[in-house]
Amino acid sequence: MTSLRLGINVDHIATLRNARGGAHPCPVRAALLAAEAGADGITAHLREDRRHIRDGDIFKLKNQVPLPLNLEMAMTEEMLKIALLAKPHAVCIVPEKREELTTEGGLDVLKLEHSLTPFVQQLQDAGIRVSLFIAPELSQIESAARTGARVVELHTGAYAEGHVEAEWLRLMAYHAAEHGLEVHAGHGLTFDNVAPVAAIAPIVELNIGHFLMGEAMFVGLKESITRMRALMNEARK
Ligand code: PXP
Repeated sequence: MTSLRLGINVDHIATLRNARGGAHPCPVRAALLAAEAGADGITAHLREDRRHIRDGDIFKLKNQVPLPLNLEMAMTEEMLKIALLAKPHAVCIVPEKREELTTEGGLDVLKLEHSLTPFVQQLQDAGIRVSLFIAPELSQIESAARTGARVVELHTGAYAEGHVEAEWLRLMAYHAAEHGLEVHAGHGLTFDNVAPVAAIAPIVELNIGHFLMGEAMFVGLKESITRMRALMNEARK
């Protein structure tokens, strides 16, 4: 089986930092530690309201951390400009609602296909790999492939909440791979629910944040990431 990459989402280090308005704890420090703990990439979501990650964090993560940066962002002109300036390794386009606590659902690619296609193209023309964060649904996968994006990230939130079976994720991952898409997955993954997702062969990357940061409060960030990495490796055997 192909190896499975682990992308660490550092948004909530910034959430904690912003709670007091200072510089501590620092997302770059967390990203450097994640690299030491065996992470393969860093993910950060620059939200329209800058509630956690800020513009400066993106440039620092890109320039100071020796891991590929995956910038999560909404499909807006403002974000496009920042992405073209920062030139992260990858951009993951996500839906965004100001009032939501987290990215609640997948991008409705089917509805947005017309405007999404040139948006994806501009990023890819600049050498940035583009992924679309979508619900694990046939029509969304097929639409994502039509936009020209190379990657889809399957939203595992419904799986994590027990509304979707791992078997359905597996079928959707194969469907995406058959459409020529690289398949990633993420949202709501924990030590307890990661194994069935990690065992799905076409999935080559998991992006995990909130649980690992919460767990880090008790065992430290390095330990928290190392344990996740071990569980993923075990499931992949
Ligand atoms: N992938 C994407 C596209 C996300 O937007 C997020 C966070 O919202 C994650 C992965 C990580 O989710 P979590 O923090 O629940 O692990």
